[in-house]
Amino acid sequence: MEFFVVQDAEAAGAVGAGLLAAVIRSNQDAVLGVATGGSPLPVYRALAGYGLEMSRVRCFALDEYVGLPAGHPESYAEVVRREVTERLSLDPANVFVPDGSAADPERAANDYEAAIAAHGGIDIQLLGIGHNGHLAFNEPGSSLESRTRVEDLTERTRQANSRYFDSPADVPGRCITQGLGTILEARQLLMVVRGADKAEILHRALTGPVTPDCPASVLQRHPHVTVIADEGAAALMPCTATRVAAASV
Ligand code: GLP
Repeated sequence: MEFFVVQDAEAAGAVGAGLLAAVIRSNQDAVLGVATGGSPLPVYRALAGYGLEMSRVRCFALDEYVGLPAGHPESYAEVVRREVTERLSLDPANVFVPDGSAADPERAANDYEAAIAAHGGIDIQLLGIGHNGHLAFNEPGSSLESRTRVEDLTERTRQANSRYFDSPADVPGRCITQGLGTILEARQLLMVVRGADKAEILHRALTGPVTPDCPASVLQRHPHVTVIADEGAAALMPCTATRVAAASV
């Protein structure tokens, strides 16, 4: 596992974008896994600055709420459209998000899993981490082998995400999420974590037992993981040498 400690969001974006750009330069048909939440946003902004030819790049989102009407500004389909598709001038036909407004969400989840496989799997998957260790929307208790499926969100996650909605009651209670087993099949994982409020869970995920109680601990099972953390999020990690070396990136 590579672990970069950076000073701020801009540096996190620069390091993350550099890794994505390397994947895209080596393969114009790269398949990117994209994440929502606040932490990865600087990565997309920095990647846009590279001006890479990306007309053949495909993107798959990690997750989506179930039950928001199509076009809702906080649906992940809309967030990905604004922050990824438009920012990077991708072909919208190459960008996929689980269909959270489908009449049959279970079927939409299965179709999504099949679509990832049909596109050859994900080359590099961006990730964040929730305060309770959730990865994508895999909440504590999720099977480490789980596949893309419909899940309930915990109150803690709904509370954390209520900042994007008018009121906590507006946050949907269900989601479609790539499974932990699905995520582990990506060829490279890139996690971005920001804020001192994530220090404890990041430490637990990367150094504690691999367990469904902390879904992000599954990263320890992947052979090619890069973590980019700011000083606050990295505060409990036992790697001062990396911290000093990377702080100037
Ligand atoms: C949401 C997303 C997760 C993300 C998490 C953390 O719950 N579904 O994929 O990891 O938020 O977001 P942030 O990066 O804002 O801390």
